[in-house]
Amino acid sequence: MSKKKIILTGIKPTGTLHLGNYLGAIKPGLELSSQEDTFSFFFIADYHGLTQIQDKKILNERIYDVAAAWLAFGLNTDKIIFYRQSDIPEIIELSWILACLTSKGLMNRAHAYKAIVADNEKNGRDTDDGINIGTYTYPVLMAADILAFDTDLVPVGKDQIQHVEIARDIAESFNNRYKKTFNLPQSFIRDNAAIIPGLDGRKMSKSYDNIIPLFAPADNIKKLVARIKTDSSGPNEPKDPNTSSIFQIFSVFADEERTQNFRSAFLQGISWGDAKEALSNLLKEFLHDPREKYLYYTNHRDEIDSILREGAEKARPLAYRTLKRARQTIGIQS
Ligand code: TRP
Repeated sequence: MSKKKIILTGIKPTGTLHLGNYLGAIKPGLELSSQEDTFSFFFIADYHGLTQIQDKKILNERIYDVAAAWLAFGLNTDKIIFYRQSDIPEIIELSWILACLTSKGLMNRAHAYKAIVADNEKNGRDTDDGINIGTYTYPVLMAADILAFDTDLVPVGKDQIQHVEIARDIAESFNNRYKKTFNLPQSFIRDNAAIIPGLDGRKMSKSYDNIIPLFAPADNIKKLVARIKTDSSGPNEPKDPNTSSIFQIFSVFADEERTQNFRSAFLQGISWGDAKEALSNLLKEFLHDPREKYLYYTNHRDEIDSILREGAEKARPLAYRTLKRARQTIGIQS
């Protein structure tokens, strides 16, 4: 029997979750982990969140928000070990060991860090302005997250590929210096087709302020859909579905038949008003049940707590096993 592939991914407790997050992370993550030959770990990277959010209330809310969102879309805790990073202190201990074996130069080359430095320099600020040590060593903690569970595959978006490569580099040089201690992980890149446009036609992203949130009331979603940029073609004029954001968003949420019907409607000259109406109805339908569940969980934080606690209970002994192995390897016996 072949060994199950270990899948692991971390979810940063960021702001309002939107359709792009669902398509880019939630949906592919749940699909991959439902495959037979896999075993999955999904966790809330709250200590990574701390590098950016130092407001007690906001960080705490975002942690629950992101947990509720994943549960709302059906994360199955029988199949996926779901936990908070901060509940597994072994990960933090492992990250110190890894930090001592990681050259500073490797961190200097991390894109995320370099981007902040470049932005500082461009704006005439001090090179390291606003950069805390946690941000700088972010990739080491991420390596510990990954290596602690002998991960094979890390489903991530494109922006995180380098971080997974750094984790692999750290593991490889550790293994070479001592002996084989860590499994070498690989990133698993999500399908690019799943990138959708936002209200202004650019990629849907919090930083462009063009998102459609996942859990907003249906009326708000309708208002946002009404703002989607269209061209000036009038009612009854044929429209090109392939260049329309409305069509693109529609087609990733509708089944084949509905998508084909919508395509024909475009070619026959549906009005932009009607097209928007069709899209907001589709989203309303699609998001109805997840939204109910999301609201349920946000109002029952104690249930989220107990789900995450159970996950941590399963994950901790596994992380401990890896930590113990690493401690023995480096000559610090438990
Ligand atoms: N850095 C990831 C992000 O910003 C989150 C993350 C933390 C992660 N630890 C991880 C992802 C381990 C995959 C594996 O999205």
